Amino acid sequence: MEQTEVVKPQTLDDLIKILHAIFEGDCVNVEQVQTIMESYESKPQEWMKYAKFDQYRYTRNLVDEGNGKFNLMILCWGEGHGSSIHDHTDSHCFMKLLQGQLKETLFDWPESHGDMVQKSQRILQENRVAYINDTIGLHRVENVSHTETAVSLHLYSPPFQSCQTFDQRTGHKNTVKMTFCSKYGERTPFEAIISQENN
Ligand code: SIN
Repeated sequence: MEQTEVVKPQTLDDLIKILHAIFEGDCVNVEQVQTIMESYESKPQEWMKYAKFDQYRYTRNLVDEGNGKFNLMILCWGEGHGSSIHDHTDSHCFMKLLQGQLKETLFDWPESHGDMVQKSQRILQENRVAYINDTIGLHRVENVSHTETAVSLHLYSPPFQSCQTFDQRTGHKNTVKMTFCSKYGERTPFEAIISQENN
């Protein structure tokens, strides 16, 4: 019988190498990516250099460009920080909790003018991996804690630079440019980050 080899990444660098290998092909095996990301046990000393917080909003910090196949980034959520309701521009979105907890609220795509329909809500725990794409729906991600920060690792494939955000009361949408607070551990110059609007 053929055995599927399950490789457990020991470090964040290991995980990145394995992800490069997985994304060499043209198809994305969602379950495989989710399993590999989940089997990496978060060690703050390995990702600390990417984790740049802001007082007012969550930050996006680029870790790896996945040979053009995916973007891997670390998002830092201060107390009470959250995203808008948004889509994922036809990409896969994997989200792993590296530290703390995040609340994910799922919404249906708006059909008519008025309040958007909330489908479900869950609290994501440390090391767990959530998955979403535009067929599943839209989501809002929030750190609802008033005392603890949260850090998450996101993989988007293919990478995207803009998404649509939605007003919960009206369903009206806006296209927003997504930017990085830092790249490879280095702060992005201020002019480049002022257009980030997804929170
Ligand atoms: C997400 O889609 O999971 C978070 C939003 C972002 O990438 O800015």
